[in-house]
Amino acid sequence: MTILTSARLRYEPFADEHFEGLAAMNADPEVMRYISGRPETADETRAAIARVRTRWEQWGYGWWTLLDTATGEVVGAACIQHLGKDPANPHEIGWRLRRASWGQGLATEAARTLAAHAFDVLDAPLLCAVRHPDNAASQRVMDKLGMRYTGMEAWDGDRVAVHALTRTEWLAARA
Ligand SMILES: CC(C)(COP(=O)(O)OP(=O)(O)OC[C@H]1O[C@@H](n2cnc3c(N)ncnc32)[C@H](O)[C@@H]1OP(=O)(O)O)[C@@H](O)C(=O)NCCC(=O)NCCS
Repeated sequence: MTILTSARLRYEPFADEHFEGLAAMNADPEVMRYISGRPETADETRAAIARVRTRWEQWGYGWWTLLDTATGEVVGAACIQHLGKDPANPHEIGWRLRRASWGQGLATEAARTLAAHAFDVLDAPLLCAVRHPDNAASQRVMDKLGMRYTGMEAWDGDRVAVHALTRTEWLAARA
């Protein structure tokens, strides 16, 4: 399982020792507002950690816990996760942060680090991201990553805004 680092963050694949920080984040209704619309219980976070660890074993990527490099505190979580929807383009990128860590550019830092990992190491042809149509902060992170809005789609019964970034676009923006 892959540990990554960037200027202010250390990325560790979900593990039991992250439970407290992840559970505190997921229990915050403001964090969950545009995700499930309700706070997550401790048992749901525990189950999510176990599920994510299985996905890591299956695909070699998944959700990372974001730790503040200076303090070791859990500040959030971000993912490259495998989607079954389109077998040719299975990579989805995502992020969520504890409320105290919003507004410092950390989601953008994590998004760029994980996009680089997806394109450079996992050889992803395309990354997609989805958001609730009212989630303007997440839209801004997608825009700053260079993603394009591709339209509204039904995902698991919800209407979501879909954004995409191809490997070609990523390489062109970096050149
Ligand atoms: C979405 C989220 C991860 C962003 O984290 P963050 O570290 O604050 O993001 P960044 O600081 O890197 O960038 C946020 C950008 O959105 C902008 N922004 C923040 N709130 C906004 C709002 N309500 N409307 C419009 N823009 C907004 C910020 O100004 C910033 O843009 P800028 O750099 O041009 O000023 C964070 O708000 C969060 O965890 N939300 C709850 C979970 C969630 O919704 N996850 C995404 C699911 S799709």
